[in-house]
Amino acid sequence: MDDRNTELGMDSLGGWRRTHTCAGLGTEQLGQEACLMGWVQYRRDHGGLIFIDLRDRHGLTQVVFSPEVAPEAHARAHVLRTEFVLAIKGVVRARPDDMINPKLATGAIEVYVTEFKLLNTAKTPPFPIEDRVDVSENLRLKYRFLDLRRKAMADNLILRSRVSQSVRRYLDELGFLEIETPVLTKSTPEGARDFLVPSRVNQGQFYALPQSPQLFKQLLMCGGMDRYFQIVKCFRDEDLRADRQPEFTQIDIEMSFVDEEQVMEMAEGMMARVLREALGQELSLPIPRMKYEQAMALYGVDKPDIRFGLTLTDVTEIVRGSEFKLFATAALIKALPVRGGGELSRKEIDDYTEFVKIYGAQGLAWIKIKEDGWQSPIAKFLSDAERAGLTEALGLVPGDIVFFQAGAPEMVNSALGNLRLKLGERFGLIPEGTFAPLWVTDFPLLEWDPEAKRWVAMHHPFTAPKDMGALATDPGQAVARAYDLVLNGTEVGGGSIRIHNPETQQHMFSALGINEEEAQAKFGFLLDALVFGAPPHGGIAFGLDRLIMLLTGAKSIRDVIAFPKTQKATCLMTEAPSAVENTQLRDLGLRLREKPKE
Ligand code: AMO
Repeated sequence: MDDRNTELGMDSLGGWRRTHTCAGLGTEQLGQEACLMGWVQYRRDHGGLIFIDLRDRHGLTQVVFSPEVAPEAHARAHVLRTEFVLAIKGVVRARPDDMINPKLATGAIEVYVTEFKLLNTAKTPPFPIEDRVDVSENLRLKYRFLDLRRKAMADNLILRSRVSQSVRRYLDELGFLEIETPVLTKSTPEGARDFLVPSRVNQGQFYALPQSPQLFKQLLMCGGMDRYFQIVKCFRDEDLRADRQPEFTQIDIEMSFVDEEQVMEMAEGMMARVLREALGQELSLPIPRMKYEQAMALYGVDKPDIRFGLTLTDVTEIVRGSEFKLFATAALIKALPVRGGGELSRKEIDDYTEFVKIYGAQGLAWIKIKEDGWQSPIAKFLSDAERAGLTEALGLVPGDIVFFQAGAPEMVNSALGNLRLKLGERFGLIPEGTFAPLWVTDFPLLEWDPEAKRWVAMHHPFTAPKDMGALATDPGQAVARAYDLVLNGTEVGGGSIRIHNPETQQHMFSALGINEEEAQAKFGFLLDALVFGAPPHGGIAFGLDRLIMLLTGAKSIRDVIAFPKTQKATCLMTEAPSAVENTQLRDLGLRLREKPKE
């Protein structure tokens, strides 16, 4: 605090009460007295009058200090600076016609101050409290309490709160119980690392923070709760991205005596309700569905953005015999034709070539279709028959460009699937402000982990298979009773029908290479519950942060979380995580293996 500000002294509220918010006054209140409290957004001195835009999270009101109306208040108003905290009392007046601001809810009025209290002073903020700020995100995160004063941030949190309340009302009406589950618990496998918490009273033992309440919600079904939900923090120690945080919030739901259809119907109703109540948009139901296999074939990813076309085509059979060496040997060759894409420059193509390397591609083959022939580094390797085959399969016309990727199917799909998104943006194919939800169903139950050389559950090990036979004979072919909800290319929710009989659960564990002893040690409590009359049950969890990110159009989930972590999982404001006292470690029976590097 600089000296000038502390010398100003501060008033207490002294019994004053707010009568309105800074967005609450209009021409209906003309002539009335009002008491407002908030922050100084701007101060302007004009011809003897001092104008202040007073701000709270609701909006702005112009307040006027006039030497005629309140000489004492006017004289004191000269000290007011940006972000000072004020309480004002005054009279609502109409603004002169030429001063009306139609963009502002309170733009037709101003409040002539009769008295005011200076509730607090403020240092000059490190960045201006304005809609658009041109400062690093790190600075915003360090001073998050100031960042939250910006309208854009407040609006995100307001929408988030509206969505949470809308979800609660919807689920309450459908007879769901809101039940809390433990945070200090045992590992729940959702595919990430656990955050561990050492126990002081049981030294050498650790709690795991829940990656999700998956097991507890299943146990609640075993406990006869029938319909459960919770808006709950989950913790996953994984690599962070724009749509991932180490702690994030799920809308977690579970239902008894249901199959996929009822869970999906409930989820669709919830999405429709949220869109209506939060954004006033109608969602057309039912939400379309696509099988995993088709999503991979057409879009290369299991979370397709179906707001635009630009689909992939398998051309393996057409160019298999080509003289281009890569095509002759690849397991899969796919093409991504772009109408009018011939305008891409060499530099842009080079950038895309670098981009697909992120996904393990060695390079990126391409052909431009010109009026006078094909322009391409690989055209010379293609026979007339192969050219004709491609032209027909891809519907090529002059002006197009086709990108090719050849190799292992996972690489081909993810390289072209992600390139597709880039190209969608580049050619302005992605409509803004529209919501295109999609169910992706029929996921493989298991996927092969080449490093661990074993099968792992694609969702989690409690997901029921469609057909038990496949699990025993050909695990890679087993299909899960799972469904993901994808919105504009982001996975916003995922769930499944669960295994509710102990034998199937044991089969699943053995398919995953978890022997009986290990299963008992890790999940004995679940196996116990399954033998005591577990009802058929299933559910879903939505990523609340991701959902809000999409509804607000934010670029990162950090912008819809009050106090998020950085990409390095740190909090720049509190400086967590941080070192602890040696005595704390000793109490926990812990010693650091080596001093962490500065
Ligand atoms: P899943 O792991 O798919 O399923 O998680 C559900 C949803 O949570 C969101 N999500 C995340 N959001 C932000 N940061 C993260 N690190 C993160 N990880 C996941 C996604 C995802 O769709 N127990 C199961 C649900 C069930 O089967 O009912 C589960 O947790 O939007």
